[in-house]
Amino acid sequence: MNNKYELIYEGKAKKVFSHDDADKVIIEFKDDATAFNALKKAKFEGKGKLNCLISTRIFELLVEKNIPTHFIGLKNENTMIAHKIKIIPLEIVLRNTAYGSLCKQTTIKSGTVLAKPLIDIYLKDDELNDPLLTKDRIELMKIISANDLDLIIDLTLKINFILKSFFKNIHLHLVDFKLEFGYDAENNILLGDEISPDNCRLWDLNQKNDTIVSLDKDRFRNDLGGVIEAYSEINRRINDFILFNKK
Ligand code: TMP
Repeated sequence: MNNKYELIYEGKAKKVFSHDDADKVIIEFKDDATAFNALKKAKFEGKGKLNCLISTRIFELLVEKNIPTHFIGLKNENTMIAHKIKIIPLEIVLRNTAYGSLCKQTTIKSGTVLAKPLIDIYLKDDELNDPLLTKDRIELMKIISANDLDLIIDLTLKINFILKSFFKNIHLHLVDFKLEFGYDAENNILLGDEISPDNCRLWDLNQKNDTIVSLDKDRFRNDLGGVIEAYSEINRRINDFILFNKK
């Protein structure tokens, strides 16, 4: 990155730089991958570019459907321009199908289709290992107002509705995903972070039987191999779908 831009924040998978306009930032997607709160680390050449391109397409789709997001535009293959937001330290997870930590922490069987989407909210705090919160704990910690929490939950449900049907069109089942929101300079709540196979579970629906084929970060978490191949496949399906529907 051009050194006239100041590094404001470095996370596990992204770097955030200043922009000439103080209300905007430049987000660079890294090739680094971490899992289990960075206990497991690796680098996958091309992951940053794929996640930036996939996120761009998803943000464009959400903007079209009037979801407020931080996304402004793609700068180049692995960087995007976004509105500067103050991230709310909550990780909003929505689950359509039971998998991952839900099945480790409850008696719900892996693969159970949930009668309605389940929203689990975690504290974004690596030192505390992102603990699961309750509404009362959120209120007690004064992280956000009850109104803003309702707004975020409502947006998350809307985003699920849009994404679930979008992914179904390209033969992918949206199992679950994690979102982050923040406040812009005018105190509007915007969807932030990224939407990519790093923070969504996507299962291939092009399977003859019920075998689960993950095309997301579970390939890295569970040592399944083929991480870049899976992310490339998601990117290819999204682009083919968009091209086909433009005609
Ligand atoms: P979980 O089953 O491990 O709680 O994950 C639920 C979803 O949230 C899954 O799509 C992966 C995503 N996720 C993140 O994006 N970041 C995280 O730190 C964790 C734990 C999960």
